[in-house]
Amino acid sequence: MDWKTTAKEINYTPNSQGYIWGTLHPDIVELAAQANIHGNWLNLAAGDGRYNELLIDSCESITALDLDQKALDRLAERLSLPQRNKVKLVAGDITTPLPFGDHQFDGCLSTGTLHFLKPDVLRTVFGEIFRVLRPQASLIMDFAVDIERECPDGSRYVIEDEPQFTLDEGKNLLADIFQNAQYDLRVGTVPDFPVNNFDLTYIFRCNVLSLLVVLP
Ligand SMILES: C[S@@+](CC[C@H](N)C(=O)[O-])C[C@H]1O[C@@H](n2cnc3c(N)ncnc32)[C@H](O)[C@@H]1O
Repeated sequence: MDWKTTAKEINYTPNSQGYIWGTLHPDIVELAAQANIHGNWLNLAAGDGRYNELLIDSCESITALDLDQKALDRLAERLSLPQRNKVKLVAGDITTPLPFGDHQFDGCLSTGTLHFLKPDVLRTVFGEIFRVLRPQASLIMDFAVDIERECPDGSRYVIEDEPQFTLDEGKNLLADIFQNAQYDLRVGTVPDFPVNNFDLTYIFRCNVLSLLVVLP
């Protein structure tokens, strides 16, 4: 099972109150409070919209892109009617060219996803993110490192093809990608998070790099 298949098999329980991927991480909340959030933002691999609430009041529009239409449907269900007018949903794959023009967005938020990508794919995806962002745009993102998925019998569940970045590998990779940008990087943890999706049950835990990047 590869990571895209895994992402598509998420059980989005209708009308559940919580977000499927848990509560908001405090480091992302703090970085978003420092960011210049205005204009048109892109929420890349938006899922069911966990972080939309950090953007929606300050933005003119949010474009939420995800591979999984079910996640986008759930994201839309959470919005009030006035908010729906601000949010555009796009079913799409971040590993292919983004279906947007150059310099279209004032900011991008991407959480819980970029660590799935191998370094060469990640660099291509960032090339696309930089293309669609305006100069001086902001990027709020996280990057999971030191990931562990522990099954009920104590064994480790490993997603085939998922890179296993350590903290230093993640920091060095992002330092290289953002060498021409200014960024604030926080190191935090995601405490034990139970995942129950159909026949998959495990505890997820990791360290996480959270960044606010300002492009040149
Ligand atoms: C762990 S969830 C994170 C969702 C959301 N950003 C959050 O933080 O709650 C990962 C998301 O990435 C999406 N995804 C996985 N592969 C993708 C791809 N190639 N293109 C676009 N979205 C993808 C999944 O459908 C899923 O919604």
